[in-house]
Parts: sequence; C-alpha cells; structure tokens
Amino acid sequence: MAFSSIGIVGTGAMGRGIAQLFAQSGIAVVMHDTNQAALTAATTSLSKTFETLVTKGKIESGVALQVLQRITTCAELSGLSQCDLIVEAIVENLSVKQKLFQQLEEIVKPNTVLVSNTSSLSITAIAAVCQRPEQVAGLHFFNPVPLMKVVEVIRGVRTNSDSIERLVQLVKSTGHAAVTCNDYPGFIVNHAGRAYGTEALRLLGEGVAHFNSASDEQAYSTIDSVLREQVQFDKNGLAIASTKSTTAAPKSDYQGFRLGPFELLDLTALDVSHPVMESIFKQFYEEPRFRPSPITAQRLAGGLLGRKTQQGFYRYVDGQPVKATEAQTNFWSSALLENAVPAPLVWVGPGLARAAVCELIKALGAQVENSARPSLTSLIILLPEGKDCTTEAVECQVAPERSIALDSLFAFGFNACKHRVIMTNPATDLGVVASAVALFGLDGAKVSVLQDSPGFIAPRVIAMIVSIASEIAQQQIASPQDIDKAVKLGLGYPIGPLSMGDQIGPQRVLGILEDMYQVTKDPRYRPGLWLRRRAMLGMSLLSI
Ligand code: NAI
Repeated sequence: MAFSSIGIVGTGAMGRGIAQLFAQSGIAVVMHDTNQAALTAATTSLSKTFETLVTKGKIESGVALQVLQRITTCAELSGLSQCDLIVEAIVENLSVKQKLFQQLEEIVKPNTVLVSNTSSLSITAIAAVCQRPEQVAGLHFFNPVPLMKVVEVIRGVRTNSDSIERLVQLVKSTGHAAVTCNDYPGFIVNHAGRAYGTEALRLLGEGVAHFNSASDEQAYSTIDSVLREQVQFDKNGLAIASTKSTTAAPKSDYQGFRLGPFELLDLTALDVSHPVMESIFKQFYEEPRFRPSPITAQRLAGGLLGRKTQQGFYRYVDGQPVKATEAQTNFWSSALLENAVPAPLVWVGPGLARAAVCELIKALGAQVENSARPSLTSLIILLPEGKDCTTEAVECQVAPERSIALDSLFAFGFNACKHRVIMTNPATDLGVVASAVALFGLDGAKVSVLQDSPGFIAPRVIAMIVSIASEIAQQQIASPQDIDKAVKLGLGYPIGPLSMGDQIGPQRVLGILEDMYQVTKDPRYRPGLWLRRRAMLGMSLLSI
C-alpha cells in the first residue's frame, strides 16, 4: 500500500468525504479539526452515511462497522504524528495553510508526505515555507468525494516524483481516477472549465440571445436550451457529420451537456464561481480567453447568487426553477409568426453542410435555387460557422435584408437535432425571419432566433472549450489523455474537450476560431499552437 495511515486536517464537507473514501479502501484514517464541534459533526455524519448505505443494501453492516472503526479522531494536531500522509482540507487561506504545514512538519516523521486539497491556491506557495517542499503536493478532490471519481495529483515546482507516484498509486487503490498535473492556476478541471460559463456570459453580454427584445430570462433559457439540446457527441468517438446521412449508432451513444451554463452557474452560486473566474484571469496575467464578465460581478454585488438565495439567473420556488414557458420563450408565437408563410424559394450559400441543408429544405417542401446568385425574391440562407451573418452576407455579396444564417454544425448525421438555430444581421427584414422560422419549424423542430453572433451559440462555446483545453496541453500542464479524463469526470461533460475537437475535426475547430477572431479582432478567440499544428497536419488533438 502506498500509505498505511492517513491524517486529515479539517473535517468539513471535503475532509469527511476524503476520510470515507480512504477508510472504505482499507486505510486507517485519523481526523483532526481545531473546532471540536466540526469533529463531532464529521463523526456523526459518517455514521449516518454508512447507516444509509447499509439500509440501501450498498454495503454489509459488518463491513460498514469495520470501515467506521478505521476512522479515529484527535483533538490535538500531535495525534497525527504517526501518519505517513497528511491531507489538509481546512479554510481556503494561504497564510493559514502555510502555518499549518509548518506545524505539521514539526510533528510528523521525516518521510511523511503532506498534501493540500486547495482548489485555488498554489501548491508551490504552500510548500515554500516548508523545510521539505519536495514532500509537499496537491491532492484535489471533488465534491462529493465518494461520487466524483477523479482526483488531481498536483506537482509543485519542488515536489519529488516519488511523492507523486505514491499519491497516484494511492488514488488508484480507492478506485478513483488519478490525473497528474503541474501546479498551474485552476490545475486541470477548474482551468478547462472556464470556457463554458465565460463564453455563455459573453454571448449574453453581446445581446446575442435578446432577439426582438426578448427578456433577460428568455435569453438565459435560449442559451441554456441550445447548449443542452443541440450539442451531441458520440461516446464511441464517431466524427460528427456534416451530411444528412445517419449512422447505425444507437441514440444512447450520444450525449450532451446535462445543464446549460446559466443553470450551472445558479447551482454553483456566484459567490463561488465569480471569484474563481477573476482569480484564474488574474493568475494567468489577464489572458483574454479567461476574461470574466461584468454581468456576474453585478449580480454577485446584488445578491442574486443562485439556487441558494432563491434567485440567480432563474428564480426558484421550493428549489425548482421558474422557467419561461415554451410559449414565452418562443416569442415567434406572436402575430408575426402566425401569419408567416414558410419561404417557398430558397438560395443556400456556400458551406461544409450545404448539400445536407439543401436536402433538408427540399424535404421541408421548399424549392432550392441552383443558380450561382440568388434570384430577387428568394430567402437567402448562409452557412457560416465562425463568422457572423453580416460578414457572411457581405462576403457572399448577397442582399442582407433577405439573409439569415443557419447553424449547421450539430444539425446532421448521428446528432441530427430538432432544435435549429437561425441568426439575423441588423438589416434582416422581420418578415424574412418569420418565413425562415416557419420553414425550419415545418417538421416540428424548435427554432431559436439569435441576433448576429460570430459562431452562433454552440459552435462558439465548443470551440472555446477545445481552445482552452488545447492550451493546457500546449503548456504541458497535463497530458492530453489526463486533460480529457479529468474534465469528463470532474465536470460531467459528455466526452473530454480534446475528443470534442477530434469529433468536430481539428481543422473545422481551427476555422471557427480563426473566423471568430477575424470578425471580432478579440484575442480571446485566437487559436493556439497545439490546435493549429494538429489541424494543419491532420492529427488528433490527443496526439503528443
Ligand atoms: P469547510 O468550511 O466545510 O471545512 C473546513 C474545516 O476546516 C472546518 O471544519 C474548520 O473548522 C476547519 N479548520 C479551519 N482552519 C483549521 C485549522 N487551522 N486547523 C484545523 N482545522 C481547521 O470547507 P470545505 O468545503 O471542506 O473545504 C476545505 C478545503 O477543500 C478548502 O481548501 C477548499 O478550497 C477545498 N475544496 C473544497 C471543495 C468544495 O466543493 N467544498 C472542492 C474541492 C476543494
């Protein structure tokens, strides 16, 4: 066994979960907390946990008793002197943690390894005050510890490889996945997780989802539902298709995001997530990819924290969100749509999915013009992936008043989706939008309309997820395989972010980012070297 006796300092939410995991793996655990009440509460809560597990038939009562007997407590820190690993899970404050590590070094055996469960502090900075910094590392668990089956093993700049290897072995012995990473802000999961919420806030801040003066709540619902309903990846790694053909893969093999970004922000609460967004941005010297949004700063100041205050982006009654009804979300239930006639004649611009889009339009009963230029009356459908509708209309030299853009990235193949997204430019005629909504809804599909956005919603958010993960790989913070494993297990994404890039195709993701960058001139969208090189060489983003 890598370690035979483990001490845990801090028995709050995390400390007691860590104690449970190790004790269940057969290791003796000693818990300590400066607050006697917290120590008692932890013991009581662990007993209750095992009682429940026995009642549910998940564990035999004899085994539960043995596990509980492996967990002891001590009122004084000196009670941990014989442990060969100490896990710190106390308050998230650098100087308090540093002081504790110094006290621990005074009492433990010379070869004892000391680890911190910090989410946001530097392991290197904690180790800097220690006499044996080579035996100090990070061991970052996720909440709830027994259920979140991944642990980040963090190498400070002076941590020795023996400590890391033993920690990896320890984590594996619990049945959790161990991912190793260098000591960088956010480690892997909290670093890679920046894209989803931050880009959604960016879309919101640009008014992308506020078409036709939709309310703010309608805008959150639009962004959340598009990301939940449109994005589908194949768990077996099939490439997403830009043709209408379907594959034989069963529907259960496709998976998307369980929660939209605003639903997720409400669950985490802004007093937790906004400081993390600010902290990562600052620690990476204001890297524009991580730029936080004034929207969350304001809402945090105003006390709209999320579920726990009954009002976040959504309002909660008895713990359940009060969402805009479908009719309210679909502002096209207005007279404008009721009187709308589905466009009978359509001209489709260039794009990867052009053939599939033409096939779809014909199946919906409209005629597709084959001419190089649109006639004077047709609805013009453009198929940009990273450009906005304005840029695409100007580049294609077509009438902007009659142009809309259709998001075709997740629309076909195995992930054919019944939530279509169309986007206008500032000149698009309202009647034209209505005729497009009527057309694309003819087969019962839900149609969302956006104001002009480079990269719509889904292509933009997914491209940023791939972009940030690629940067983590390029900086050698962790191996590509560990990045994917950590994000999938730590954030519950359907597949890892680099695999997402592979399914879309690295070249296609590169194109989306380059177009978004060209349109916005915002360096947050600049593609990095990891992605660019692999896209140019036709290689997987998981290749080293
Ligand atoms: P918590 O507030 O639930 O528990 C902290 C415990 O540490 C309290 O019982 C407190 O009495 C005790 N404590 C404070 N200072 C102490 C000291 N000097 N010596 C001994 N005990 C002391 O906190 P929680 O949520 O369990 O977090 C603990 C650590 O784990 C933090 O560093 C946090 O950033 C990290 N973490 C938290 C996660 C979460 O979801 N809550 C997830 C991953 C990491």
